[in-house]
Amino acid sequence: MKLMSKDVAHLFELFQPEHYTLQLDPDGETREVRGRVTILGQKKGRPSQRLTFHQHGLKITSASITKHDKKGDQEIAVARINVQKSLDEVRLHTESLLHAGSYSVTLEFVAPVQNSMTGIYGSPYEVAGEKKLVISTQFESHFARQAFPCIDEPEAKATFDLTLTVPQGQVGLSNMPVSKQEEKDGRVVITFETTPRMSTYLLAFAIGDYQSRETKTKDGVLVRTWTTKDHSPESIDFALECAKRGIEFFNDYYGAPYPLPKQDLISVPNFSAGAMENWGLITFRESVFVAEPGSISQGAKEYVSLVICHELSHMWFGDLVTMKWWNDLWLNESFANVMEYVATDGLFPEWQIFNQFVTSEGLAAFRRDSIAGIQPIKTAVHHPDEISTLFDPSIVYAKGGRLLNMLRTYIGEDDFRKGLTAYFTKHAYKNTVGADLWAALSEASGKDVAAFMNPWLEQPNFPVVTVDQQGGELRLSQSHFLLDAAKADAARLWPVPLLATSEGVPALLETSTADVKLSVPDYVRLNQNAVGHYIVHYTRPEHAAWLAGLAERKELNEVERLMLLSDSSLLARAGKVSFDSTLSLLEHYTQETSDPVWDIMALILADGRRFIDADPTLEDSIKALVRSLIEAEYKRLGWQETDGESTQDTKLRASILGLGVYADHEDITKEALELFEAYKTDPSAVSAELRGIAFGAAARHDVSGAVDWLLEQDKTVSNPDIKADILGGLTATHSPEVASRLLARLQNPDLVRMQDVDHWLVFLMRNRYTREVAWQWMQDNWAWIEQTYKGDQNYDHYPRYAASCFSTREYLEQYKAFFGPKTEQVALAHNITLGIEEIENRVAWLERDLAAVQAYFKK
Ligand code: BES
Ligand code: ZN
Repeated sequence: MKLMSKDVAHLFELFQPEHYTLQLDPDGETREVRGRVTILGQKKGRPSQRLTFHQHGLKITSASITKHDKKGDQEIAVARINVQKSLDEVRLHTESLLHAGSYSVTLEFVAPVQNSMTGIYGSPYEVAGEKKLVISTQFESHFARQAFPCIDEPEAKATFDLTLTVPQGQVGLSNMPVSKQEEKDGRVVITFETTPRMSTYLLAFAIGDYQSRETKTKDGVLVRTWTTKDHSPESIDFALECAKRGIEFFNDYYGAPYPLPKQDLISVPNFSAGAMENWGLITFRESVFVAEPGSISQGAKEYVSLVICHELSHMWFGDLVTMKWWNDLWLNESFANVMEYVATDGLFPEWQIFNQFVTSEGLAAFRRDSIAGIQPIKTAVHHPDEISTLFDPSIVYAKGGRLLNMLRTYIGEDDFRKGLTAYFTKHAYKNTVGADLWAALSEASGKDVAAFMNPWLEQPNFPVVTVDQQGGELRLSQSHFLLDAAKADAARLWPVPLLATSEGVPALLETSTADVKLSVPDYVRLNQNAVGHYIVHYTRPEHAAWLAGLAERKELNEVERLMLLSDSSLLARAGKVSFDSTLSLLEHYTQETSDPVWDIMALILADGRRFIDADPTLEDSIKALVRSLIEAEYKRLGWQETDGESTQDTKLRASILGLGVYADHEDITKEALELFEAYKTDPSAVSAELRGIAFGAAARHDVSGAVDWLLEQDKTVSNPDIKADILGGLTATHSPEVASRLLARLQNPDLVRMQDVDHWLVFLMRNRYTREVAWQWMQDNWAWIEQTYKGDQNYDHYPRYAASCFSTREYLEQYKAFFGPKTEQVALAHNITLGIEEIENRVAWLERDLAAVQAYFKK
């Protein structure tokens, strides 16, 4: 990957803070924060005439320095305050020479309450027509410097005393409990208890008109959930349950107690990420937190639990023990990714959430990680500005999570936990690098963890293992898998855990080929439970047919059934098999009853729909295929939830009906439209699972007034799950005129929150009927997008999402012409390069397989 900038200096090497005393007085009217900070710390290195701190966009009005030594305290005159904008620094120059030792530095400053979603920022929202404002923070990765001068590096851990001024009647929260509260000039001044030693990116506060629910864990930790009053108080009960039980789960799993006296979890009306693990004050986007009882779908509820467990996992892994520098952020996020599933599985075993680990994380990882040019998990970070573009969720979260899960299986759960407990004990309140974790896990397991993991982490992409079996003669080979096979590196090897069903197959394949003589000549299966991060190609047709038979008879478990399909679709994209063979494989799944398997089936049907871009006459054939595939499950599941049915069936029903609406299934469409009418008279008459189906059918078939009605609802409804269904429904329209109306709303923050714009846009671009208008809109309004989102971690979603929508040469050329010149921008370059590669791969695939797919549907 392209090197983006030279290494930024680490200020921690020059000054090591120990304690911050910080006062912040934010004003929602003037949009200014008056601040004062005293930083106590050690100056390091050679004598110099300056002290340097991070800052970004601050107005620094005064500075003073005090030296502390045996002789007592001594004032040192500051000769000049010099702000180095391009370096994000403020330098305090002195006449006298400053020697290494203990200093206090006090600065007064003014910070902005930003309109973006970083630093200290405002979230406007409405309750019953009344305009309100939340003021809160987002400091990860390097935005604490937008709020106060500091050494803004993860290694610079210090304790913090925060004092915050808030309007009367409003709630003010921070990482620690309140220690003192007093009224002053009609406002409330809140002082919080001293934090433990922690990194600046984890400091946080939130101020607003909030309501809460609270409970205590078994160990007496106070847990509270908070949301604004446009939601019901019950809407945060589910989050409270997840949080309490999640903390108890991790206490036990990690064998180290939750380190703080309390845990607050709070939703913020405008939020760029999904959630943020500020120590003791986790912040959330509403859609992953607020769960109105009775009107949230099972899938959304599962996501709430996953996100809460993800952030709670960080309270230990990330907050208590923190990476030294951003190049090990993967460790934080990969770990939290797998732990969100481990914990949710512990809390709600009936959900069988680990299947979803394979479908959502696994698939995202495989699809992204097979593009030439994708970065390895372990990538150097020269400057924190690179973080948002290097930390690709499909790689750092999904692939990293899969690899850690592979390791967990490789060394065994007990040793995994034992190693973690030792790691937390040894490194609490300190910083680590990846090798420290490997050392702890090696010690616990007696295995060389670094040797096993590093090839997976340091090399991009993954292997395909080819299986060539004739009777007892088995040849296994690994090779570098890429969608553009011509770019593969023949020399690349991984230590592949084979996880085979047959005796005599080695546990690891470390060479490029291995010949095995089996004493029993039964066909072998590899990668049981899809734990390994690789795909398998069974080259003998009889072997593949045997597997398809096992899948059809459900003699493979759900995960293996879905992996067989998923592997086939990846092999087709890379030209190793033709896509018509993937479609033929699908015919073995007409009696499939498993929700996660259906997720992959739907994905393969969506792959098939790509071919419509090359030949529009295929649309009818694909719809017919969909109708025939869903028939059995439609009969089984119908429209009514039955008492005691599994949550998987509940979710599957919605998928089947959604496919039915897409495929113009007559009954399903008719019922869905009736449901829409029913919803209009009485929303509570329609279950949360089916609401999206009803909205989608109504918008797609443009039943009279549906679009206007949904748009009106969007204005008045605050429930994020209903809003998501409205978004999904409206963007399913077949009308370019409707799409233009939707696009025209995007720049109005009263209608579409800043956090949601990319979703509206990408949904309209994915839709074949509205793609052209949406793509044109993105190009025409790029200046606005750039101005609004530059600096936001979601800015690079635009080239990434756009690339995911295009499959033809014409669009490839348009994409190149539009985004090509934008590779000048560090934040976009990587995703644009990958975007071009991705579209090229797709175009090549469609050209290669179109004739075979056409022939498949003729027969
Ligand atoms: N720490 C991240 C959020 C983050 C990452 C902020 C990098 C700034 C820079 C947080 O723990 C996280 O991973 N959030 C996820 C939610 C998750 C459940 C996938 C997110 O925001 O997508
Ligand atoms: Zn995270």
